[in-house]
Amino acid sequence: MKIAASVLAFDFSRLNDTFKEVNEHVDWIHYDVMDGHFVPNISFGPDILKDLKTMTPHFIDVHLMIEDPKKYLDRFIEAGADLITIHHEAVDQKSCQEIITHLKERNIKVGISVKPNTDPLEIAKYLPEIDLVLVMSVEPGFGGQQFLASAYDKIVYYDEFRREYGLDYLIEVDGGVNDKNASSIVECGADVLVTGSYLIKGDVKENVAKLKA
Ligand code: DX5
Ligand code: ZN
Repeated sequence: MKIAASVLAFDFSRLNDTFKEVNEHVDWIHYDVMDGHFVPNISFGPDILKDLKTMTPHFIDVHLMIEDPKKYLDRFIEAGADLITIHHEAVDQKSCQEIITHLKERNIKVGISVKPNTDPLEIAKYLPEIDLVLVMSVEPGFGGQQFLASAYDKIVYYDEFRREYGLDYLIEVDGGVNDKNASSIVECGADVLVTGSYLIKGDVKENVAKLKA
């Protein structure tokens, strides 16, 4: 099981110290990009990622909560993304397929995310081709929300699907993850847990240890 620290929750007035603490204990860095259109919030873009990339040795997991993600793929690749996840709800079938091909040709891992009310079946046809499914366990847009229990069934669905078809994509869960729900999430089949507000509140080392326990 991997822990991905969500930059959205970091204190940007003490970014150096936060990265020092976080780098020691987590596996991935999760970078939430919000455009104020696909979600009702604005976060950060590729230029800030370029700077943050120099502050961590970890795998950079970019979560694009934006309209027309195809337009920005190359900017995030240049900035250092290792994995780019787009939202199924933000693209039509043609651009989804083009994005998968574009990222694969450039050796960048590709993920697809589904919002809480999206039927998990809707992305079934892409599953044999992608590296990761991101199950949103809150409505995307803000950190610090409560985990929605409807995510459990989705995780189980994607876990059973990959067993049935012998696939090897990872299942990542994003939103409201904490020490109370982490074990159930992993039991359902999740491989990567995104954590923001839970991780940053208090002692990072202790919080990661509790998640992993
Ligand atoms: C929500 C973001 C999440 C968020 C998670 O739209 O995609 O990555 O930062 O933060 P917490 O752990 O606070 O729910
Ligand atoms: Zn996210």
